[in-house]
Amino acid sequence: SKSEPLKVMISGAPASGKGTQCELIVQKFGLVHISTGDLLRDEVSSGTEIGNKVKEFMNAGKLVPDEIVTAMVTARLSLQDAKEKGWLLDGYPRSFEQAQALEELSVRPDIYIVLDVPDEILIDRCVGRRLDPETGKIYHVKNFPPDSDEIKARLVTRADDTEEKVKSRLEVYKKNAAAISSTYTSITNKIDGNRSKEIIFEDIDSLLSQVQKDKTAKSVKP
Ligand code: AP5
Repeated sequence: SKSEPLKVMISGAPASGKGTQCELIVQKFGLVHISTGDLLRDEVSSGTEIGNKVKEFMNAGKLVPDEIVTAMVTARLSLQDAKEKGWLLDGYPRSFEQAQALEELSVRPDIYIVLDVPDEILIDRCVGRRLDPETGKIYHVKNFPPDSDEIKARLVTRADDTEEKVKSRLEVYKKNAAAISSTYTSITNKIDGNRSKEIIFEDIDSLLSQVQKDKTAKSVKP
C-alpha cells in the first residue's frame, strides 16, 4: 500500500536558510517546492499585473496583502503534482490570517519546521546573498561562492537585501511569528539554523524520514 505524500512547512526569519534547505529537501524527497517569495519575484520580473501590485510591498520589506498570496498558494497546492508528490511550503503562512486560510481549506502540514538563527547572522547572510537567475540556485559571497566565473558573472542581488530592508523584514517576521506558530504548536520542530547547511539538513532529513515512516505505518491496514 502506498502512503500519503509528505506535507511540509518550513519557516524562519529572513535568510535563516529556508531556500537553501529546500533545495536539499527537494533533492532527497522529491516534494513540490512552493516558495511564495520565488512565485512573487517571478511575477515581478515578468511584469504581470500581480507583479506590478506587489513590487512596492516587497521592495519595502513589507508583507504583500494576504488575499494575493493566499490565492497564489491555494492555486499551486491544488495542482496534480503537489497532490501526488507532496509539497514543501516555504514562506507561507506569514500571518495569522494566512494560517487560518489554510486551516479553513483543511490544508495541514505533517510537520512545521522552524529554522532558528541569531539576528546578527541574518543581516550578513542577506547582504552577501546572490542568486543565479538561470538555475534559481542560492549563493553567498563568502559562505557559498559559485565555482565558476561564468556563474559568478550572472549572479544577481535581491532588491530587498540591503541592511535597512533586512531589518524591517526581520521586524515583520518577529511581529507575526508567534501568531502563526500557535496554529501548528503540536507539529512544530525548531532547528538550530546556525550550523553548516549539511548538518542542518541531517536533522531535517531524519525528521522527515521519521514522519514518512509513521505515515506509511498508518496507511498499512491489517
Ligand atoms: P521570501 O523570499 O520568502 O524572503 P524571506 O523570508 O525574507 O527569506 P529569504 O528568501 O530572505 O531567506 P531564506 O530563509 O530562504 O534563506 P536562504 O536559503 O536564501 O520573501 C520575500 C518577500 O516576499 C517578503 O518580504 C514579502 O514582501 C513577500 N512575501 C513572501 N511570502 C509572503 C507571504 N506569505 N505573505 C506576504 N508577503 C510575502 O539563505 C540566505 C543566505 O544565507 C544565502 O546567501 C545562503 O547561501 C546563506 N546560507 C544559507 N544557509 C546557510 C548556512 N547554514 N550557513 C551559512 N550561510 C548560509
